[in-house]
This record gives sequence, C-alpha cells and structure tokens, in this order.
Amino acid sequence: MPKRTEVEYRVYNGADALSRAAAEHFFETAKAAVAAKGVARIAISGGSTPKRTFELLANPVERFVKAMPWQQIELYWVDERTVPPDNKDSNYRMTREALLDKVPLKPENIFRIEGELDPEEAAAKYEAAIRNHLRLEGAEGPRFDVLALGMGDDGHTASLFPHTAAINEMIRIAVANQVPQKDTWRITLTWPVINQAHDVFFLIAGKDKAQPVHDVLLGKYDPEVLPSQLIRPSNGRLLMLLDTDAAALLPAPDASGKGRLEIER
Ligand code: 6PG
Repeated sequence: MPKRTEVEYRVYNGADALSRAAAEHFFETAKAAVAAKGVARIAISGGSTPKRTFELLANPVERFVKAMPWQQIELYWVDERTVPPDNKDSNYRMTREALLDKVPLKPENIFRIEGELDPEEAAAKYEAAIRNHLRLEGAEGPRFDVLALGMGDDGHTASLFPHTAAINEMIRIAVANQVPQKDTWRITLTWPVINQAHDVFFLIAGKDKAQPVHDVLLGKYDPEVLPSQLIRPSNGRLLMLLDTDAAALLPAPDASGKGRLEIER
C-alpha cells in the first residue's frame, strides 16, 4: 500500500550550526513530551555525526544542560555494535563520554544495549527490557518521543544495512543483524518500531552523504539497496537536518534554509 510522507529538510552551514539545530530539536521535543506526559523517551543513533550534538547538550556554558528535563528523560539506543561498552567502536561509549558523564540522567532511565553479549541474547534482552519497562503487551511496540537517525554512505540507517535480514523483520522490536559487508553483527531496532516514533529525524553531514540522501529521497524505491527508504514515520512526517554538503543534490532550500518534498511510495 503506497504511503505518502512529507519530508522537511533543513540545511545548515557547517557542523556547529547543524549540531546546534539537532540539540535544539532534542530539547524542544523532550520538553514537549515531558510537559504532555511527564516523561520523554529518546532513542539515539551512534556513529560520529551525533557526538557534537551530545557535547553541546552537555556543555555547561550552553542553556541545554540546565534547561533539559534530564530527570524525566529515558534514553534508548537505535542500534549498537557487538563490542563491550568501553570499546572505541561502542555507541554507548561515545554517548557516555560526550553526554552521560556530564548530565544528571537517572541510571535506571538509561537502556543500554549490551553489545558485549552474544548478539541474539543482546537483542532479546534489549527487547525484553523495553517491553517490561513500557509494559507492552502482545504485538504492542514502543513509541519513542524522538528518535534520531544517521545515514551511511551506502544508504543504511540504524543497523539496517543493504541486503541484510533485518530489513525484512516486521514483528520484533530489536534484532541481531549480520552485516557481511562489515564482517560483523549489530543489534538494531527494527524499522516498523522506528516508524512508530512520534518524531523521527535524520542528522546527516558530509559530502559522502549527498548521493545517498538524494537517492533515498528521490531515487528508485528499493529498500534492499537503500534501507533508509524504509523510514516513513507513521505520523506521515519526516525531518532531515543536513549540512550543505549532504544536501548538495537536493532541490535548493528556501531563503530560510528549508525544503520540502512529498514522497509517495
Ligand atoms: C552506527 C549508527 C549508524 C550511523 C550511520 C552514520 O551505529 O554507526 O547508528 O546508522 O548513524 O552509519 O554514521 P556517521 O554519523 O558516522 O556518518
């Protein structure tokens, strides 16, 4: 069944402006969620792009560290590498160093994916932790208030890599996904769960992302090749925060740096 998604993209000059925009977005969405229901459930991606945003959120000279409702925030990961939490490739380690060590999140509100375990066990434990904490029954899935994604130069997002099994997982919340192109396993939220989030945004920077960003949004629909095309939030809206390099092959944004596309697939 084709689905119509309105994509808004906002283009920023340079990494600092982009990271600041992402920090503002986290702040606004978290504040709104806490105001509405007393809690904000945030799911974050790893990789390198988000680090600067996390550092901004934790920076004592910035307004975020004082203004964010840290005590009411629950933090989840979109995906994790199959490494221990102190490994240089760990998304948790990057987040801990950039953010967790500097802000007053409650330890019980940090839902780490245990990448040090057997991948299937780690995925099952993560899914169970989410189900138990949110008291999900049957086929009910989590609805994150804000969920941040990156995009690889191969069009992957989360740990949904081209031609990997997780692309076809429609039931589970989290799975172990074998990624032959990286000779590794990853643990990832599944795309139907990602699409259930109230607010999903991509945070993408760099020249090497211009082509995948273009192809994902404007190219032939083929999620086996471009898994980011699976991201069609159930609310029908998708936000992309891009630097000028990553947005280079999109239609030029307006004077305020905003562009809009309608996608029907
Ligand atoms: C990961 C991420 C992954 C990431 C993209 C982009 O675990 O690596 O979740 O999906 O968002 O690979 O990574 P960069 O931000 O490093 O380009």
